Amino acid sequence: MVILDKYSSIFIANWKLNGNSSFLKDYYEKLKLNSNNCTIICSPSIYLKSLKGNNEYLFCGAQDVSSYKEGAYTGELSASMLKDNNIDFCLVGHSERRQYFAETNDNVNLKSSNLIEENIIPVICIGETLEQKENNLTEEILSTQIKNSIPNEATYQNTLIAYEPVWAIGTGLTPTLDEISQVHELIKNFDTKFKSFKVLYGGSVKSSNSKEINELSHVDGCLIGGASLKVDEFNTIIS
Ligand code: 13P
Repeated sequence: MVILDKYSSIFIANWKLNGNSSFLKDYYEKLKLNSNNCTIICSPSIYLKSLKGNNEYLFCGAQDVSSYKEGAYTGELSASMLKDNNIDFCLVGHSERRQYFAETNDNVNLKSSNLIEENIIPVICIGETLEQKENNLTEEILSTQIKNSIPNEATYQNTLIAYEPVWAIGTGLTPTLDEISQVHELIKNFDTKFKSFKVLYGGSVKSSNSKEINELSHVDGCLIGGASLKVDEFNTIIS
């Protein structure tokens, strides 16, 4: 398992349903890693094998995993298959999966548990919708997501948490720095066990705001969607 404590910050590129072979080749030629940070590229799964991860600073991540371990489940990829292909990280419970693929906290819990068993680090995504935020439900929603989607065996060494307010994803909107700080502190204070967990922020991170977000005391890195598809922009973010 990757030793997370070795890195001062963690940056994850979530390419979502984007990219192709020539995009990938060009991206890798131009990618400039920063040796203080852990950089993880989450490509669509068919390209995972062509990603040049597993050097000391660059790793591959999947965007999802099956909750089943094996059997007659057409189209699925198991945690052990990811491990077999040198994948060290996997996003779980991204809001797009919760929204479009009806993923529940229970699914996220089981998937994360299967990943931990295979020594793959789940990046468990949580976050409130705009409606929930406007109704002052952020704390309640995050608390439920944390209680139900993080498995008992999760520790700060084998699991990452990503706070992604749903309303900030792909919209260009972000919470204020104070709000990000407060929510990250809240997450780390839900239970003494979460105090040492690394918590990443995601939602409209770009080169113009990544530095100030990443410098916040309870932020341990960023999960980047749209801006990670432009390699120059991503280079600036991780530099
Ligand atoms: P954007 O950076 O495009 O807002 O997406 C964030 C995200 O969903 C990363 O997982």
